[in-house]
Amino acid sequence: MRSGTLAATTLILAATCSTASFTSSPAEETGGPVLRGARIHARSCAACHGVEGRGDGPGAVELGPRPRDFTAGKFRSRSTESGRPPRRSDISNVVRVGRAGTAMPAFRGLLSEGEIADVVDFILTLRPRGPSDQEPEAFALPPFAPTTAEQLSEGRALYLTVGCWKCHGTDGSGRGPSARKLESDEGRRIRPRDFRYDPFRGGHDFDNVARTVLSGLIGTPMPSHAEILVVPRESVDAVLLSLPPEVRPEVEEFRRAAPSSAEVAALDDADWLRIRDRNLVSLARYVLSLSRRDRFFYRLFREDPELEARKP
Ligand code: HEC
Ligand code: HEC
Repeated sequence: MRSGTLAATTLILAATCSTASFTSSPAEETGGPVLRGARIHARSCAACHGVEGRGDGPGAVELGPRPRDFTAGKFRSRSTESGRPPRRSDISNVVRVGRAGTAMPAFRGLLSEGEIADVVDFILTLRPRGPSDQEPEAFALPPFAPTTAEQLSEGRALYLTVGCWKCHGTDGSGRGPSARKLESDEGRRIRPRDFRYDPFRGGHDFDNVARTVLSGLIGTPMPSHAEILVVPRESVDAVLLSLPPEVRPEVEEFRRAAPSSAEVAALDDADWLRIRDRNLVSLARYVLSLSRRDRFFYRLFREDPELEARKP
């Protein structure tokens, strides 16, 4: 027995030593982290994400949402433009903090920073390779200014004019008129977030909402809104009639202040971006303000959104 254990130890030692000596050769320097990452993946991730990272591990069967299929390369937490791949740091951040309200655990404290880096290296080898495989630029997010009442009503008007309400509902309940028939890319039923009660999977903070609005959520019907946040008055007029009559007055003030389409066309890039960022802050601020999760009655009675009367 004792000699058996000793032999095993020697073997492991030998294996460790040989990996150590391998890492000195340049070819293995790239293979090293990926191999270590594959081992970490097999131990800590494969139960849900599957041995090959296809999101089909034995623990995935009953999960909603399902674990991500790494081979599809569609990562939702992104700080990059719609259509671009995520940055490495986007993925390591998910591994560190998890995804709120889903089975995806936070591994900070369970895996060292080095192990997280290795497992991310491994995951990145699984996605389909394309010409855009280089690390893309991150969004420059505007600073998050303190909230004014004016900002909130502007955010509300934007929420209505750019069409968030169609999926997320005029009340933020996630039950807008388009919400019923939404599916993810894998053909599974998907529900827009209920801004009042659902946790935000990427975090209940400005950066996540801003990133989600700019980038959209790849793999879901939630589109990027990066290009439509500077709304000319003519566009407000055009959507006004499609809004439920009771909310139309809430857009009036915003409509009056909106620039004409000729004025928008005449903006240079810097001015356009300044207005876009200002609108982004107002919109995100409004969305965040809808949360009822830290309210007294929610904590006391755990209000159940499923029991509420349905309205658009
Ligand atoms: C208990 C199940 C479970 C385990 C274990 C697990 N995951 Fe996940 N993971 C999930 C689920 C579920 C999702 C989808 C979350 C969503 O849709 O927001 C996910 C999503 C992800 C994503 C995608 C995030 C995005 O932005 O789209 C990454 C990356 C990820 N997991 C990495 C890992 C790594 C690395 C490990 C192991 C160290 C791991 N996961 C272990 C369940 C798990
Ligand atoms: C076509 C329908 C649709 C539209 C329009 C839409 N969303 Fe979404 N949104 C969704 C769906 C579906 C999800 C949930 C995706 C998931 O489960 O991963 C979502 C999720 C979100 C989330 C949650 C992100 C997280 O971390 O959990 C935020 C924030 C959000 N949307 C904001 C907005 C805002 C603001 C607008 C308008 C600018 C908007 N959405 C427009 C469908 C939509």
